[in-house]
Amino acid sequence: MNKKILIVGGAGFIGHFIAKELLQKGHQVFIYDNFSNYIPPQEGHYPFYLQRRLEDIKTNAELIRGDIRDKEFLTKTIKEIRPEIVINLVAIPLANASNVFFEDAIQINLNGHINLLGAMRAVNSVERFIYTSSSFVYGHFKYDPADENHPTHPIDIYGGTKLSCEILTKSYSERFGVEYTIIRPSAVYGPTDSNRRVSQVFIENAIKGEPLILYNGGQDKVDFTYVSDAAHGFALAALSPKAKNEVFNITAGQGRSAEEFAKILDKLIPGGVKTIIKPTDEKKPIRGSLDIKKAKELLGYEPKYSLEDGLKEYIEYIKLTGLFNHK
Ligand SMILES: NC(=O)c1ccc[n+]([C@@H]2O[C@H](COP(=O)([O-])OP(=O)(O)OC[C@H]3O[C@@H](n4cnc5c(N)ncnc54)[C@H](O)[C@@H]3O)[C@@H](O)[C@H]2O)c1
Repeated sequence: MNKKILIVGGAGFIGHFIAKELLQKGHQVFIYDNFSNYIPPQEGHYPFYLQRRLEDIKTNAELIRGDIRDKEFLTKTIKEIRPEIVINLVAIPLANASNVFFEDAIQINLNGHINLLGAMRAVNSVERFIYTSSSFVYGHFKYDPADENHPTHPIDIYGGTKLSCEILTKSYSERFGVEYTIIRPSAVYGPTDSNRRVSQVFIENAIKGEPLILYNGGQDKVDFTYVSDAAHGFALAALSPKAKNEVFNITAGQGRSAEEFAKILDKLIPGGVKTIIKPTDEKKPIRGSLDIKKAKELLGYEPKYSLEDGLKEYIEYIKLTGLFNHK
């Protein structure tokens, strides 16, 4: 049955892919977003990518410009829509930026989430609430692959706000009877990302002939996940009865090093890539592969993209944008 789905932060990189998939499935999608970005626009190309995202969704989704910190407007919006499913993707979505803009991160990631939980109390329509967490809740991985029962010990503000919201989501669900699903993605990459994550920076630098910086010799592994795989996992989790009150790692399921990433680019970019080695950034959690067995078994989640396939598609997309043709 088709559902009324409110995606808070749905104009973002991951959110608009989720919106597209849910619209294709015939659901009614509402997006509440303040259209913001913490990267200087000339570096991340935010206005450019935002336009591309909106082209994909604006005809069929209803866009509402609003801030998650504005509880009054958020509550009014929720009362008007009466959504059955609510997905929260709002955050300062980068560990570094959440640490630098510490107070904004508390206001947006944590207090914004509390506002949303409070606003949902104004209606009795919400059946399922989906919270977007992160692999940063695990802190340094103690074993690999890390499953959902891996101890949570975030070592930074970003991971701390994510874990706090997970706990509040669960206790809210216990107290008020709204089903929850918590998703822990990792290193999502692909078309329209404007947050200067390593994938965007590496590909753009490679296309421009600039070097890629490999910290710790490029040996640290991260579970890079292609954005349409991540969005598919969200859509499955939002709609499946089996996702009721569950936590899922939604990733590619394989940790890959920055060195491997650079080697793939070296084959895909004419002229190859240059690299520079720098020491470790010790403040970052040591991560690796996430175990996605639970999502496969309960949701039928099956990521389609290897890092090789995802990068090929992403490079083609970036080339087609024409953003770097003048270089
Ligand atoms: N991209 C990744 O690698 C990754 C990995 C793990 C978790 N996540 C989480 O996934 C979520 C989405 O990340 P993304 O990569 O799509 O980032 P994004 O920045 O593209 O999306 C976030 C969206 O939230 C909106 N937003 C920010 N502050 C707001 C506010 N105060 N009020 C209303 N809207 C606001 C932004 O305008 C944006 O559209 C985040 O919660 C992030 O922490 C992302």
